[in-house]
Amino acid sequence: MTLLSVRGVSKRFGGLVAVNNVSFDIAAGELVGLIGPNGSGKTTLLNILSGLADPDSGEILLDNVPCQGLTPERLAHRGVMRMFQLTRVFRRMNVVDNLLVAGRALGLGADEALSRADALITELRLDVIRHLDAGQLSGGQMKLLEFGVCFMVPPRIALLDEPFAAVHPTMKEIMGDFIRARHGKGQTFILVSHDMPVVVELCPRAVCMNAGAVVIDATTREVLNDPRVIEAYLGGQAA
Ligand SMILES: Nc1ncnc2c1ncn2[C@@H]1O[C@H](COP(=O)(O)OP(=O)(O)O)[C@@H](O)[C@H]1O
Ligand SMILES: [Mg+2]
Repeated sequence: MTLLSVRGVSKRFGGLVAVNNVSFDIAAGELVGLIGPNGSGKTTLLNILSGLADPDSGEILLDNVPCQGLTPERLAHRGVMRMFQLTRVFRRMNVVDNLLVAGRALGLGADEALSRADALITELRLDVIRHLDAGQLSGGQMKLLEFGVCFMVPPRIALLDEPFAAVHPTMKEIMGDFIRARHGKGQTFILVSHDMPVVVELCPRAVCMNAGAVVIDATTREVLNDPRVIEAYLGGQAA
């Protein structure tokens, strides 16, 4: 069943075509890697999908209903969650309270919020820091807390933009375990990452963009072995 359908989406910044006629479908339960060299349009595409930017043309369907141009808040209510930008972590509130506030704001009762917060604290291995203020956390711990905040009420589709960038390997492993476990339970993701070993390990399917356009959309192995993808990374401003 198609959850998200991206149809001919384009976005220009002046003379630059940042996203060029991009189309793909994401079925419910898929974990799709979105890769491509720096500047290939991945973040712009996620911005469009999450309502932070309007496309110049094209259509985005969520459950077969057009949703392009909706605000991030409206999209979040429909289950599209862009992590690390939509998420609000309160720096002067501790870890467990941040989770409880997020859960209550999304309509959970007190007991339900507490039991979900406890489960997420265990799953994200935040136990020893549960009473620390969010402002005291390291960058990686903050990202783990943001995962928790986003998953108090699991979104229909989670859009992750380079969650592993510049985090400690231990945190990276916890995030990877979290994504894998949630995918195993049917959670849908689009994961933007430059970390190819992680993309290979986590994502059965990958979409590679270059210069705003989709180069190939196939199994991750096929994508990484495709000469056009290798060319894109070698020929562009690859990281
Ligand atoms: N707000 C903006 N104004 C002008 N150009 C932008 C803006 N956002 C992105 N771009 C340009 O669009 C292209 C795609 O950027 P981006 O989506 O961030 O790529 P990626 O996430 O794949 O690295 C780049 O050339 C970038 O410089
Ligand atoms: Mg980016």
